[in-house]
Formats: sequence, C-alpha cells, structure tokens
Amino acid sequence: MSDGLLSSLRAALPNATVWDAAALAPRDPGFDPRNFGASALVRPRDVEGAAALVRFCTEHDVSLVAQGGRTGLAGGAATSAGQVICDLGRLNQIEEIDPFARVAIVQAGVTLGALQEAAAEHGLDPGIDLAARGSATIGGMVSTNAGGIMAFRNGTMRHRVLGLEAVLPDGRVFSDLTRVLKTSAGYDLKHLFIGAEGTLGIVTRVAVRLDPVAGASATALVGVPDAASAQRIVRHFLASTSARLTAAEILWRNFASLMQRALKYAPGSLPLEAPCLLVLGLGADNIEAARHALEDGLAAIWEEAGIIDGLVASSEAQAAAMWRLREETEQIERAHPMAPSFDVSVPGGGLDAYVARIEAGLKQVDASYAPYVYGHLADGNLHISINCDGPVSHERHEAIEDVLYEGLREAGGSFSAEHGVGLDKRDAYEQHADPVKQDLAKAIKQLVDPNNILNPGKVVG
Ligand code: LAC
Ligand code: ZN
Repeated sequence: MSDGLLSSLRAALPNATVWDAAALAPRDPGFDPRNFGASALVRPRDVEGAAALVRFCTEHDVSLVAQGGRTGLAGGAATSAGQVICDLGRLNQIEEIDPFARVAIVQAGVTLGALQEAAAEHGLDPGIDLAARGSATIGGMVSTNAGGIMAFRNGTMRHRVLGLEAVLPDGRVFSDLTRVLKTSAGYDLKHLFIGAEGTLGIVTRVAVRLDPVAGASATALVGVPDAASAQRIVRHFLASTSARLTAAEILWRNFASLMQRALKYAPGSLPLEAPCLLVLGLGADNIEAARHALEDGLAAIWEEAGIIDGLVASSEAQAAAMWRLREETEQIERAHPMAPSFDVSVPGGGLDAYVARIEAGLKQVDASYAPYVYGHLADGNLHISINCDGPVSHERHEAIEDVLYEGLREAGGSFSAEHGVGLDKRDAYEQHADPVKQDLAKAIKQLVDPNNILNPGKVVG
C-alpha cells in the first residue's frame, strides 16, 4: 500500500486509530500469525467510523478484513499485504441489558467474558460459552457462528442472536436490531451475516438473548471406557428435571495425557487413567445442591454406564483444575507448533466408530500419527489435532482430510462444526458443501459485494 493511500486513509478517518505495517509488526496477532499480514489496521470509534472505512475501501478498491478477538482457528481473519484490517476493539460498549425482556444490546467488540459478567449481575447469561471467552468478541462469534460448551442446550450463536446491525460493502448500514424472538417478516436476512466471516458485511451491533442462570455449578471428572458410556451418562442427566446439565466435554486419553504432562498435574491427583474422560457441569440453586445432584446422578448410572472412576470437585480450585485440563488447548500448539487441527460434527451415536476409524486411517497416512481428540460430547462436535509439527504439505493435508471427512456429509455431520471455513477449510468446503448451496452462496456474495471488498478469498472465494 502506497504512503499516499495510507495518508488518504488517515485523512478520511480522523477519529480512528490507524497503524501501518511497521506499527503492527511488534503487536500480538492473536491465535493466528497470519492475522497481521495487512498493510494497515484501523480501529473505528463507532458504527459511523466503520461505515466510513468501508466506503473508503470500496472507493479505493482496497480489501477489508474485520477482526474481533483474533481467536479464530480457520484463518478467517488472516490478512496479506495491501489489505486493511477493520479492528472492532473500540466498539466495546454493552449498550443495554434489559433484565425483563432478557436481551442485551452490545457493540461488536464486546468480549464474551464482559457480556457474561454484565449479564450475571442480573442473574442472566448469554447462554453460550467457550474457552476463549476472555478475548473472543460477540461480533466475531456471530461472524463464525461460534458454538462452544453449551450449544447442546442453547444452540449456537445463530440461536442466541435476536437481531443485528452490519455495515454493507457500499457503506449502508443493514439495521435489524429486533429484540423479540418471534419475527416472521419475510426473509430473515440477519442470518446471512451469521457465519459469513465478514464476507457480506461487518457486524457492528448485536441483540443477544439472555437466559436465567443457575445459582451455582458443580464439576465432575468421570473416567469411562468409551464415548457410548459417556453418552449414557449425559442422557441420564438430561432426562432429570431437577438438575440442569451445563457442560459435557469429552477428552480421549491421548489428549488428556498430553494436557496432564503439559499442566504438570501430579499422577493420581485426578482420575485420568480411563480411555475417555468426561468433564461434567451441573447447575443448581447452590453449590451443595449441585454437588449432591452430581454425586447422586453418577451413583445412579455408575454400573449401567460402566463408569471406571469419577470425582466431583470439592472446591473451586479442583473444579478449575478439571476445566484447565479441557480448556488450555494452546498446550497442543506448544507441543506441536502449527499442528493441523480440525473441527467436525459427528451425528448421533457414531463417536466411537468415528474415532476408531480415523485413528486407523491416520496411521495409514503416517504410522506415527496418533491424534489428540476432544470436544463437545453432547452435540457430537469433536476437535482433532494431529501429533506432528505443521504446517504439513498440501498433499498430506488432503490425505488427512480425506480420512477425517469421509462419510461425514452422508451421515448428516459437518466438516466444520464451529470454527468456520476461513482460508483453511476452503478446499473442504468446495469438496463437501452441497454444490447448489455453493452456487447460491456465490450469487449472494456477488450481489452484496460485487467488488469483492470484504474478506476476499474466505468462505466463498
Ligand atoms: C474448544 C475450541 C477449540 O472447544 O473450540 O476448545
Ligand atoms: Zn470447541
């Protein structure tokens, strides 16, 4: 990008912070080193500033990539020279929480953690949770249709959004800040922007549904022989009308062992020997009630589910240790820098067969492969990281994908459960998404963004 263009950009946006490539270089690009490849980063102060930035980019034929917390895992926010980043970090106001209507109106750059805290003051919660809560923003979560830990109960981000506002490539503002659940007023176009990864518009404001939270939550770590056993336990708790299951996360042994080593947990401090581990969360009015419900529920299903061992956390610290085992997944990245990682949805009861099949298939690709598998048991969303240092060659990546994605679509699953398509899942999208869906998506992109200004090369091309 020429110095002249950069000066015009600064002049056109007098209220925004503008960093050039030199100012960007020493800063933290977040989860993906490719995030800061752009020639400039602009931080608008408000929606009008974001719209002015979009107009500038359209007028000067510069491509623009929206970024929130930079916690994405599919390269959706990756940038390259000549591009400009629209950083939503200053649009960080929780504008309103209506405890009676149970809705929050937030700007796109509000972090999930900040919204959770603000809602908790009213005994409410956005009903969605994920490990990157401290950095991930509502706008980014909308744009990738994030899922996380509670999706089995409350749906994904798409199901938590009542309305939204987004800046279109021509600088107009699409405004649908509906705050009611029921609206049947024609095409529900807000859904176009949910999961579009900033390719159709830049999400600037969101009306988020809130739900009442349980007073306290208890945590257990349970060792089981396989996922089928873990699913039996989950079904048991889901059937209970007195207890509210809030989390059911599964860790296969290879993943759990890596985490135990990386976190330096003393052997025997937690029951970690079983082939599969289940981290359960159960909500109730107070912590004693929640712990008792968890203990009683596990005792009732112990034999039938073939539970190997289990422990209900007796302190906050112990519960946190159990959760770290599940959530500090950056330890995989540390052990295997840039390891190829995947995010699939496997329907119904097929988890054990799927994991057995991919373990065998990956061994055929490379005898040293023993994947780390973990994820959100109750909705079948598994994360898979390969135990090698990446990035691997294109051919190797394809061979791995062939193993992981085989039969998923036919079975009704998905090659991309909650991390989006971005750059990294583009080939998979072209290969596995319905061709008619792909045609329609391209036509919509062409209609809304004819000059391909917004996040080009992502999702649809
Ligand atoms: C998780 C992220 C990787 O579930 O989606 O930890
Ligand atoms: Zn996840």
